[in-house]
Amino acid sequence: MEIIIKETMNDAGILGAKIVARIIREIDRPVLGLATGNSQLPLYKELVRMGKEGLSFKHVRTFNLDEFVGISPTHPASFFSFMNENLFGQIDIIKSNTAIPNGQAANIPKECDEYERKILEAGGIDIQVLGIGEDGHLGFNEPTSSLSSRTRIKTLHHITKAANSNAFGGIENVPNHVLTMGLGTIMNTRCCLLLAFGEKKAKAVQDMVEGPLSAGCPASVLQLHERSIIILDREAASLLERREYYDEVYKGKPDWQKWEQ
Ligand code: GLP
Repeated sequence: MEIIIKETMNDAGILGAKIVARIIREIDRPVLGLATGNSQLPLYKELVRMGKEGLSFKHVRTFNLDEFVGISPTHPASFFSFMNENLFGQIDIIKSNTAIPNGQAANIPKECDEYERKILEAGGIDIQVLGIGEDGHLGFNEPTSSLSSRTRIKTLHHITKAANSNAFGGIENVPNHVLTMGLGTIMNTRCCLLLAFGEKKAKAVQDMVEGPLSAGCPASVLQLHERSIIILDREAASLLERREYYDEVYKGKPDWQKWEQ
């Protein structure tokens, strides 16, 4: 794992956007895995800014991690709305090249299988953007999710429902079920880029980076990923025992290996 600790969320978002933009520029038909949540906002804001300065998304395909079951894409709390508002609506991406699991599908298992098939047909995901839940979830893979799971329906834990309650105007309105790429789906991506900020994420980050590999902290599966980049702010990194070492490693990298270049 490459652990990068930045002073602020904004600095972290700018760095994350540089990594994504490099893939967009260097790969012919780049495939991005995207995530929702506040942690992604600085990254998307910077990508939008880069887009205004000439970065084109016309050749980019995207697959989002997850969506709530049973709500319409036009619902303000849907991840479809989130993506349109914070990214797709502000860049030159071709809408038919973007995909989000359809939480209103009549046949959910079929929708999930087709989602997996479409990712494969696109050639797989070049970079998967991720956040982390306070309970260590990735996408909506709650603790005890199989570490090799594929896209499927899951039931939300009350901690996750509470974290999403504002968007729905109360926890009682948060759907119980979601569709999410599985941890196995995420592990098949060529690179993972996880952003986490604030003290609320510190314990989950510690478990993910320094804890045992365990379905108790689904994000710990990234310890097995051949290429994962974790960008944190000081608060989210505060419980890491080896944080000085991670800082030293990043600062001591030769310039050509630094993402800032
Ligand atoms: C939801 C999403 C996750 C995201 C998490 C954290 O559960 N399904 O993909 O990582 O929220 O969100 P935030 O960044 O707002 O804390």
